[in-house]
Amino acid sequence: MIEIAVLGFGTVGSGVVELIDNNQEWIRRSVPEGIHVKYILDIRDFPNSPYADRVVHSIDVITEDPEVRIVCETMGGKEPAFTFSRKALENGKSVCTSNKELVEALGTELMLTAKQNGMSYLFEASVGGGIPILRPLRNSLVQEEITVIGGILNGTTNYILTKMEQEGAAFDDVLKIAQEKGYAERNPEADVEGYDCGRKIAILASLATGKKADYDEIPCEGITKIAASDFAYAKAIGRAVKLLGIARKLGDGSWSVRTAPFLVPDDHPLYPVSGVFNAVFVHGTMVDDLMFYGRGAGKNPTASAVVSDVVELAMHIGVPLRSAWNEEKLTLADSDLESHRFYIRAAAEQAEALEAAFGSGLEQIDLGGQEEDALTGTTAFVTGEISERTFAERLGSIEVQNVIRLL
Ligand code: HSE
Repeated sequence: MIEIAVLGFGTVGSGVVELIDNNQEWIRRSVPEGIHVKYILDIRDFPNSPYADRVVHSIDVITEDPEVRIVCETMGGKEPAFTFSRKALENGKSVCTSNKELVEALGTELMLTAKQNGMSYLFEASVGGGIPILRPLRNSLVQEEITVIGGILNGTTNYILTKMEQEGAAFDDVLKIAQEKGYAERNPEADVEGYDCGRKIAILASLATGKKADYDEIPCEGITKIAASDFAYAKAIGRAVKLLGIARKLGDGSWSVRTAPFLVPDDHPLYPVSGVFNAVFVHGTMVDDLMFYGRGAGKNPTASAVVSDVVELAMHIGVPLRSAWNEEKLTLADSDLESHRFYIRAAAEQAEALEAAFGSGLEQIDLGGQEEDALTGTTAFVTGEISERTFAERLGSIEVQNVIRLL
């Protein structure tokens, strides 16, 4: 048996422990000796759990036990997850995690610590929940120059947007359901303000380029300004509202990386991706377009991705795996120079000012008679393609209700 420890017995951690128990038969096809959870670290006790006797409260019990070869960190947050992960690596245990906040902020350091100690640090579950995306990038696509990567990277917000659009549900009600279903972060601000999506696109861009994309430099917008009227206007122009994280290589070799809601056209592969599902779009210069699709959040899909790392680590005991990226910083493009078409929703009395500011390139959205009563007093336009800077300059002080970029 290969002994492992799980740090954090929350939604994902408990899923990992159960999956390893329930799917032992399938795991043994790759790891014939089997994998066994020896310890579960948590500050709480779980007297009614069948795993109660494995719960410990000190990381030292785990790091000082030579039988433990792999540590799964499913605690979330930077601390104490960072300190515990580093300690495990320094004590000869490989580590895998679902913790995107930690991977984005301190993953480079942990990969270095792993390398210095002949260990590995993996994080398949940190992006896209159950979707296998990091392993294909590390293995199947190493020969590719990737020039575009990103997509729908947050299950909670995609679930909220879908329910608002399809059922007219209220934002707060759907967020509550997403929390009950175990999709949302402990602090759901990370989901709805786009921070979680921003961390995931930073991880994907780093993995695609081999250099570290700095999350703090990535423009980030969430979904809190999206209203029912935006779905009606989007529908009238054959589009859906999706929160995307996108990274694109530009002609000068720099990368444009952004997290924001976009209006996605109905002929785009991301358009039908709804509910908790995520989809990661990849363009490689040889393989052309790829899309990876699956459940982006939730106990079992995320646990499945974590255990895929456990199995890979168990198959490579004593064989350190290559780091996902190095310490070099990825150069990001000036986001003000990026060009898009923009959707603008405003009070009807702003129409003249908007037309004067944006000129003949501005198209008013015609609702075709539908929903007009509910939207009386409101108008919406789409601009021609202009840079972020020009858009901001032309908008000036005109008061608008919402702005969304078109994909
Ligand atoms: N809160 C995250 C989401 C969990 O909704 O996508 C998975 O990373």
